[in-house]
Amino acid sequence: MVLALFGAGCSGGAESAEPPPDQAPQPNPEAAADLARVKTEPAASAPIWLIERAGDATTTFEVSERSYNLSARNIGLAARIRFADGDETFEAFFTPETGLGPDFNGNGCNACHHNNGRQSEPVDGAYLGIGPVVHISQSGAGELELPFALPGYGTRLQTYAVDGEAEAQVNILWEQEQGEYPDGTTYQLRRPVVSVVGREGMLSVGAELSLRIPPQVAGPGLLEFVPEADIVIAADPDDTNGDGISGEVQWVVDADGIRRVGRHGWKAENFDLIHQSASALAEDMGISTSINPIGADIEVGDEELADLAFYVEALAIPAGREIDDPLVIAGANLFESIGCTRCHTPQQRTGATNTPELDDLVIYPFTDLLLHDMGPGLADNRPVYSASGSEWRTAPLWGVGLLHEVNGHISLLHDGRARSVEEAILWHGGEARPVTDAFMALTGEDRAAIIAFVESR
Ligand code: HEC
Ligand code: HEC
Repeated sequence: MVLALFGAGCSGGAESAEPPPDQAPQPNPEAAADLARVKTEPAASAPIWLIERAGDATTTFEVSERSYNLSARNIGLAARIRFADGDETFEAFFTPETGLGPDFNGNGCNACHHNNGRQSEPVDGAYLGIGPVVHISQSGAGELELPFALPGYGTRLQTYAVDGEAEAQVNILWEQEQGEYPDGTTYQLRRPVVSVVGREGMLSVGAELSLRIPPQVAGPGLLEFVPEADIVIAADPDDTNGDGISGEVQWVVDADGIRRVGRHGWKAENFDLIHQSASALAEDMGISTSINPIGADIEVGDEELADLAFYVEALAIPAGREIDDPLVIAGANLFESIGCTRCHTPQQRTGATNTPELDDLVIYPFTDLLLHDMGPGLADNRPVYSASGSEWRTAPLWGVGLLHEVNGHISLLHDGRARSVEEAILWHGGEARPVTDAFMALTGEDRAAIIAFVESR
C-alpha cells in the first residue's frame, strides 16, 4: 500500500493531490493523507470495479471504530462546519425536556447507530433492547400505499416510555435450522420468532410485524444522489431480459402526492434523508418536526433537521481493501460470474447535488437500489408502497467488511439473523435462488473467495 504525503504528487488518480485553488480553497488538513493516497488500479486479472476509492474523492482509508464517522474527505470548510452542526444533533441524547417520548425506542440517533454503525441482532430470549425496531401495521394497504396503522400502536412499536409502562414488550427467540452443501459440508442458519405483548392487550389477528436492525449510516448519503432516472432505467419488473431477476422501483408518495423513488431503509421506504431522519425523530423518539408534527410544538426545527440530513449526506465512504489479494480477486470474479452483480450493481454515480464536492462522483456501493423478491425465508409479509411482503432493497455492500471493526459484530440482513457473509448468502431465495444454488455448487475454496471479497468491501 502506497501512502504519499499531501502535495507529494499523485500518479494516475482522478483526484490530484494539489487541486486548483479555486476548487478546494480550504482543504481539510485532517484529510490530507486520505486525499493524497495514490490510487491503486485493479490488478489485470480483476474486474475493473475492484477498486479502493469506493466513494470517489470522499473516500477515507481509516480502518478503526471511526471508519463510518469522518466527513467526506474532499469537502471544503463551509461544508465541514455544517457537517459539525449536524453531527451535534446526531450525537445528542434527547430527554423529556428536549422532546423525548412519551413513548420511544431510543434517545438519540447515536443510541441506535452507535459509532454511525449497525446494531447487533436481538439477544435470544431477552426483551428487545435499544436498536432493533419493530414496524407494525394492520393488513390491507394497497399498491403505492403506506401500511395501515394498527389501532393503538401506529406503524412502529415503542418499547420504552418516559413514564410508566411501555407500549409493548418484544421478545425474540431464535429458531435454528440445518443445511448441507452439495459437497457435504453442513451449515446452520437461524431465524427470529418475534412475539409482542402490548400495553393495549393482545395484538389483533393479522397484525403485520417486521423486525429491522439499524444499518450503518455511512453510505446512504451518496446513494441519495444517484439520479432517479439511473435507478428507473435499470428496473426490469417483468423480467423482459429473461435473466430471472426483476428489479422493481420502490415508488413512494410524498406529502404532495408526487411519486418519488424510495431508496433508504431495508425496503427503500424513504426517498430522502430529511424524511428518514424526521421519521426516526417522530416514531423512534417522539420528537416533533414540521414533517411529522406531534402536538403543537416543533422540537427540531427545519434548519436543524436539514443540517442533520446533511451530516449523513456528507459522511466519508470507507475504502475497499485488499484489492491485490489473489483470494479477493478470485472472489470478485466469481461474484460477477455467478450473478451477484445482477442485483449488487458495482458502480453508480451521483448527479447534481447542492454540494459541489458531492456532484458527479463515481461510486461503488454494490446495489441497484431496486426491490427484489427474496423468497419466503426472508419475507416479513408486510407490504410497504411498491414492496411486497417478500421484497427487499438490494443491500449496499460498501463498508460491510468494517462492521466488526466499528461495532464488534457482524449482523447481516434486515433483522440481523445472519452471523456471517456466508449465512447472508444462504438466506438469498426467490429471484436470487439460482445465484445461491450456483454459490452452493462451488468448491469450498471458491466460496471462501467470494466471502473474502465481500469482507474486503
Ligand atoms: C430506535 C433506534 C433508532 C433510532 C433512535 C434512529 N434510527 Fe436510524 N434506523 C433504525 C433502523 C431500525 C433502521 C432501518 C430502517 C428500516 O428500513 O427498517 C434505520 C435506518 C436509518 C437510515 C437508512 C440507512 C440505509 O441504509 O438506508 C438512516 C440514514 C438513519 N437511520 C438515520 C438516523 C438518524 C439521522 C437518526 C436520528 C434522528 C436515527 N436514524 C435514529 C433505527 C434507529
Ligand atoms: C436477486 C437479487 C440479489 C442477488 C442475485 C444477490 N443479492 Fe445479496 N442481497 C439482496 C437483497 C435484496 C438483500 C437484502 C435482504 C434482506 O435484508 O433481507 C441482500 C443482502 C446481502 C448481504 C447482506 C448485506 C447487509 O448489509 O446485511 C450480503 C452480504 C449479500 N447480499 C451478498 C450477496 C452475494 C455474495 C451474492 C451472490 C452470491 C448476492 N448477494 C446475490 C439481493 C441480491
